[in-house]
Amino acid sequence: MTQPDQRRIRKAVFPVAGLGTRFLPATKTVPKEMLPVIDKPLIQYAVDEAIEAGCDTLIFITNRYKHAVADYFDKAYELEQKLERAGKHEQLALVRNVLPEGVRAVFVTQTEALGLGHAVLCAKEVIGDEPFAVLLPDDLIWNRGPGALKQMADAAAASGCSSIAVQDVPPEKTASYGIVATGDFANRQGRITRIVEKPSPESAPSNLAVVGRYILSPRIFGILESTTPGAGGEIQLTDAIERLLGEECVDAYRFRGTRFDCGTHIGLIEATIRYALDHEKLSDAAAQMMQSALRELGVEEIS
Ligand code: G1P
Repeated sequence: MTQPDQRRIRKAVFPVAGLGTRFLPATKTVPKEMLPVIDKPLIQYAVDEAIEAGCDTLIFITNRYKHAVADYFDKAYELEQKLERAGKHEQLALVRNVLPEGVRAVFVTQTEALGLGHAVLCAKEVIGDEPFAVLLPDDLIWNRGPGALKQMADAAAASGCSSIAVQDVPPEKTASYGIVATGDFANRQGRITRIVEKPSPESAPSNLAVVGRYILSPRIFGILESTTPGAGGEIQLTDAIERLLGEECVDAYRFRGTRFDCGTHIGLIEATIRYALDHEKLSDAAAQMMQSALRELGVEEIS
């Protein structure tokens, strides 16, 4: 085992090259990461979480069709000028804060859709030799306190180990996730002893599932370079992590917060409801609207 690495993360990788076919026809022209929850696209929630955790370099792994993500993070001179002239300072700040000062965005094209492991490998040159984060924007994590990645970054800086967000899932759902086996948990962390990509419920080592937040040692790149296609014929990040376990410590981290799977219709709806009900200006109207929608449709009312 190599020595733990207690450097704090500064760089975050966002794999955003997926096709988002579940959300067709919307995703015919709008990448799924640009779908909004209230007034922010999914990618912005993930970016804000990474910045809060201390990252100042954001690496987007895109495909050649995803100009929308790059355009979104680019400076919008005309819009900013218009808002400034109209004295709309609040809106101007919103537009400018998409990418706060001191934070830079780097775009790397993944030329072939070979899987999540391959997407992460595309960030190798930009990351270099330091621990880094990976955030899957489909997994939106709501929390009133510190974001999930900040919680993990603090824990990883103390332990010096790689860290992977996990949550319990119903046993019949294991085939949709990476599943881990761990030692005992203390302070929300348990050392991972095994990790398997999308096992059937019969072969799953537990029902503790990987959620899309990772803090990884740069050693993962060397491993990814020789990782062959696994589940679904794709180069899996999970398979590379399984090999990393043999060389370095990797912890599972049970984050505080609620995760919404915004890669599915119901998850995106759930997230929208949660953020609306927790919104300082919208919560009352949203709650009333939901009650009356249930009444009008004859759905049994929530008491
Ligand atoms: C990916 C990972 C999987 C993880 C999941 C979390 O799968 O491969 O291990 O549990 O993200 O959202 P995907 O959902 O992209 O198929």
